[in-house]
Amino acid sequence: MDIQEIKLEELDADGFIEEQIKETASAAGEGLAVNALSGGVDSSVVTILGHKALGERLKTYFIENGLMREGEGQYIAELFAGLGVPVEIIDAKDEFFAALAGLTDPEEKREAITQTFYKDVFGRLVKDSGAESLLQGTNYTDVEETLAGVKRQHNILEQLGIDTQKAFGYKVVEPIIRLRKSGVRKVGKALGLPEELYARPPFPGPALAARVIGEVTPERVALVRKATSIVEEELADTGAFQYLAILHEDKVTGVRDGKRDYGQQIEVRCWDSTDAVIGSPTDLPFATLTKLAARITSEVPGVVSVTYNITSKPPSTIEVV
Ligand code: XMP
Repeated sequence: MDIQEIKLEELDADGFIEEQIKETASAAGEGLAVNALSGGVDSSVVTILGHKALGERLKTYFIENGLMREGEGQYIAELFAGLGVPVEIIDAKDEFFAALAGLTDPEEKREAITQTFYKDVFGRLVKDSGAESLLQGTNYTDVEETLAGVKRQHNILEQLGIDTQKAFGYKVVEPIIRLRKSGVRKVGKALGLPEELYARPPFPGPALAARVIGEVTPERVALVRKATSIVEEELADTGAFQYLAILHEDKVTGVRDGKRDYGQQIEVRCWDSTDAVIGSPTDLPFATLTKLAARITSEVPGVVSVTYNITSKPPSTIEVV
């Protein structure tokens, strides 16, 4: 591909910030720009870079797509308000669930999220605000995995030949496209982001939809959201790269109070990795695993089985769909 990676060892974070402020300002021109802040490391870094480059000409939104963690919108909006960046929360839950209804194929789910996000929600926000460009936090690994055909990361557009001006009515600006996650964290730190943001475990753009096998419904997302918060609470101190809960499609037979309980299965994954390109399962203590199983089966209604993924990437991938 013709995008040149900046490796972590070569990255001068302050120089990069200065250069990207100039480049973003020139790419966005004189007009208004918008960006979506999900609270992940990539979009947080782009939000701060964008505000340094464009000031009040950049409008930042948090899209509540119904697929985020518990209380995420409020938490992020308050945190960024404290950094001097106003964030508007847009409620688009119904639109996303309507687009996902009936879909079970992973790539079709990603495509539905892409279309709802870029065409419907941002198409409208751009039109209403008169913005000309969208700033987003695509990174080098996103592009590489999509072009290699591993997964079509939801934010890859131009590299797949999509003319965003024609398709959605705006231009896309991607200030961190030459960095991998470790480089993005270094830039986040240099930008003065709090550690709770720049050191946050990665979270996928399609959010909890990437962690539901089969149809993504509000009920199934609620279930995986609850399991996610338990996994995040229990594994926060492991220092692992990423940890997550997955809802399986097949039900299994369990037993509760001496009676058959045909219920749901949750798979826990916990990864050692530096940039998500390769990864291996974290060697968690058995007591940690059994505590996870006990909490998930007692606190998440309907779950009767919890498993731990012991596969490396490759051949596994970090997320499940
Ligand atoms: P995989 O599952 O491909 O994930 O091993 C590699 C890294 O990317 C994240 N991920 C995504 N991020 N859109 C994103 O923005 C996506 O469609 C997507 N799928 C996976 C994943 O959480 C991991 O950090």
